Amino acid sequence: MLFDERPKENRGELFDRAKEIEEIKNNIDRPLILLTGVRRIGKTSVMQVTLNEIKRDFILIDCRKLKENYGRRDLYALLSSSLTRRLDRLRDVLKKIHGIQIMGNSVEISWGGRNYLSLADLFDHLNERRLVIAVDEAQRLRGPLSREVREAIAHAYDYDRNLSFILTGSEVGLLHDFLGIEDQESPLFGRYYHEVVLERFSREDSRKFLETGFQELGVEVGDDEIDELINLFDGIPGWLAFAGIRYARERDLRVVAEIAVRVAQSELESLIKFKDASSGIAGRRYKAALRCLAEGSDSWAKLKICLEETEKSTISSSVLANILHSLEKLSLISDYHFLDPVYEEASKRLR
Ligand SMILES: Nc1ncnc2c1ncn2[C@@H]1O[C@H](COP(=O)(O)OP(=O)(O)OP(=O)(O)O)[C@@H](O)[C@H]1O
Ligand SMILES: [Mg+2]
Repeated sequence: MLFDERPKENRGELFDRAKEIEEIKNNIDRPLILLTGVRRIGKTSVMQVTLNEIKRDFILIDCRKLKENYGRRDLYALLSSSLTRRLDRLRDVLKKIHGIQIMGNSVEISWGGRNYLSLADLFDHLNERRLVIAVDEAQRLRGPLSREVREAIAHAYDYDRNLSFILTGSEVGLLHDFLGIEDQESPLFGRYYHEVVLERFSREDSRKFLETGFQELGVEVGDDEIDELINLFDGIPGWLAFAGIRYARERDLRVVAEIAVRVAQSELESLIKFKDASSGIAGRRYKAALRCLAEGSDSWAKLKICLEETEKSTISSSVLANILHSLEKLSLISDYHFLDPVYEEASKRLR
């Protein structure tokens, strides 16, 4: 069902994306593939469908489950659950690894002590098999263990020819930062990677997506309403599915738009809370910047005036540049414009 809000797993549930899936398949023997795009654009779906179609073993690591500032225990718990899910396919490889114990149907990994298994060692062992290691929302690996994880990936890139990594990220700038392909200090500096970017649907595809979704639900929706949904959600499939399923129930566009904006608002509020934790001023300024941008400050000068008016204080250029950069790295804005109209609307409400 197109309007199912979970990430899709099979081609039959997926609308289009044939070209992107083909591109990933054609590059699957490369050591590193990135699959990027804004939130709700379909990264997890495209990755899962592709993994299920290629005739090759894979493990899927969902980093959204990692908390900020995760520790080694958290990381290894995540790895162990990913390996456990594929235990029936990988048992013969895993059982030979010192530092891994198979207890019934689950995989335990030693993250310290005498049997410590480093990530690089784990990859070397997995290399016995042709294997795809898929890491969803890989930018969340940033944090205290960033360096170690990056070094292990760099090691695998160089030595483990049987392994391919597919990394997805919705905070695209942060994903690039994490890998440090352009950072001379990074062990992955200058390495080639293949990036597949998921773009939003065209108006025509959005229309087809909505029409098919409503048909599947057996509800009739007029052209005007479909047009309005397309205008509100700008070709982002996750929002179209979100709105489609609710519209079928509520039959009220305003109610549906309102729920979407509230979801986006609560995500922005958690971001601000996170910034707040480092300093109260930072949180307040992020909030003000988002609101100013949403209300039309579409240049450096306008944004500076708007922020200074809000804060009743002068704001240094470096602080402003920092805020803008990090909003760009989060894929919220680009060139003073929001990438997603729902977040734009939500930002106007930040108080
Ligand atoms: N091509 C598609 N066909 C059908 N449904 C899709 C498609 N792309 C995305 N969806 C739907 O949109 C929603 C978001 O998709 P998905 O979770 O794959 O995106 P994502 O980019 O990984 O999102 P996030 O950034 O939140 O992780 C899900 O409900 C999914 O079923
Ligand atoms: Mg996802």
